[in-house]
Amino acid sequence: MTQELEDYILAHIDAEPEHLHELDRDTHIELLYSRMCSGHLQGRLLKMLVRMIRPKLVLELGTYSGYSAQCLAEGLLDDDAHLHTIEIEDELEDFLRAHFAKSPVGDRITLHIGDCNEILPRINKQFDLVFIDANKRQYVDYFNLVIDHVKPGGFIIADNTLWDGKVTDLHGKKMDDQTRGILDFNNLVAHDPRVETVILPLRDGLTILYKK
Ligand SMILES: C[S@@+](CC[C@H](N)C(=O)[O-])C[C@H]1O[C@@H](n2cnc3c(N)ncnc32)[C@H](O)[C@@H]1O
Repeated sequence: MTQELEDYILAHIDAEPEHLHELDRDTHIELLYSRMCSGHLQGRLLKMLVRMIRPKLVLELGTYSGYSAQCLAEGLLDDDAHLHTIEIEDELEDFLRAHFAKSPVGDRITLHIGDCNEILPRINKQFDLVFIDANKRQYVDYFNLVIDHVKPGGFIIADNTLWDGKVTDLHGKKMDDQTRGILDFNNLVAHDPRVETVILPLRDGLTILYKK
């Protein structure tokens, strides 16, 4: 997408709330790899998808600076609806807890620090929506991990599934582990009879799965 078109879209969708604008700024100033932060457009889409699905329980794999977690939580409609989010990097914990404490939806978020492969079996709940956004090399493992924790009629959303266009740009190039992980995931969900699958070409590609 051209910068001009992106600016146009951002000028014609819901504004980014002030606390998320600050979080985005702090992410860029204080953290490495700030490009991983969902940002204005994808954040508003995540909130809108939560509004549409009206989940009671949401799970996120890969919190990073908490931008997407706050957007997902912002979309929750029911008073008892809640988000669990899992982040492996313990250096992010203070940053995350400080920003969740300031957030208008912080009380709707439970942060777990650790490897989602170990934490999810301990949470042991059934979710209406799962957002997969952790290590790209492990997307197949995450799908296998979460599928039995998604209620029938629930959804899985996976981020970065076009991986900067690398999924089709393979001609003669050595494939890196992250691209391999995304390709394996895309092939798996395209043929798994338990889910219906679409890919939105938004930002870095967003796959939406419906569990039958
Ligand atoms: C792309 S970032 C998440 C971005 C965030 N969801 C957003 O949209 O603003 C991926 C995060 O997943 C975390 N991560 C990687 N492997 C993980 C694992 N096995 N369990 C939990 N978190 C993991 C990384 O440390 C990183 O912070």
